[in-house]
Amino acid sequence: MKNPRVPLAGVIGWPISHSKSPRIHGYWLSQHDVAGHYVPLGIAPEDFTEMMQQLPKLGFVGANVTIPHKEAALELATEVTPRAKMIGAANTLEFLPDGGFRADNTDGIGFINNLRQRAPDWDAGAGPALVLGAGGASRAVLWSLLDAGVPEILLANRTRARADALRTEFGDRISVIDWSKISDATAESALVVNTTSLGMSGQPPLEITLHCAPDALVTDLVYAPLTTDLLQQAQDKGLRTVDGLGMLLHQAVPGFEAWFGVRPEVDDTLRGVVLK
Ligand code: ATR
Repeated sequence: MKNPRVPLAGVIGWPISHSKSPRIHGYWLSQHDVAGHYVPLGIAPEDFTEMMQQLPKLGFVGANVTIPHKEAALELATEVTPRAKMIGAANTLEFLPDGGFRADNTDGIGFINNLRQRAPDWDAGAGPALVLGAGGASRAVLWSLLDAGVPEILLANRTRARADALRTEFGDRISVIDWSKISDATAESALVVNTTSLGMSGQPPLEITLHCAPDALVTDLVYAPLTTDLLQQAQDKGLRTVDGLGMLLHQAVPGFEAWFGVRPEVDDTLRGVVLK
């Protein structure tokens, strides 16, 4: 028998009220006239394992996972995509007919697809990329840049040991540089990526002076504010910039397609809906 239920999906987090994912998927569901629903699911860590058994029984075909469940989801999954394994966290889950679930991580592909959409002439092979930060977001960016064919990544983190550990894991296309050298390193970087929380509303500023070549691209994962001081400085110097909102939108595409059977587009209307 065909599944008699309306397909459900949602975002699992604790807390969850801040998540923008319901707006993104809600927009696509109505745009494509899909008979399905996407809801915020506030699930405490101690309930996560049980919920992963219960949700499919209620008609859930999949879910996004966010803090604090991204690592737990990877451990509990019955299938893990290679990129989720490499990034070390899951953000997109698909329930399987055998009662298990597949864990994927679409943050890296979201990052790269956003760059490709907003800066179509960006060439991964153009030169080194400077990546600031060595947390979870950095892992997704490193995976995607290496996958896209960037020849070298200069990785800087306040706590250098975390960057050294990522070099050991991700390989010798990564060179660790000292946090105090980030401004100098921009001179030889074709791409500059901020994956730290510096520059976000309420956080300390990112102190950096860009010495980039004129064709360099500067991008920030921070999207509140949308134009961070880093992006403003780059624009003032005539450099191309890409803001961080698009990564959030693009990482949602593979999940929507897997759950609801339509590949959605990231467009300006969606940006407006999420910024509202
Ligand atoms: P996420 O998953 O968003 O990457 P995270 O794993 O907590 O979050 O990582 C936060 C990143 O921002 C780290 O690279 C962190 O540097 P440390 O590893 O030294 O903590 C960086 N970060 C946060 N506050 C910072 C600050 N005041 N100065 C420099 N880097 C900072």
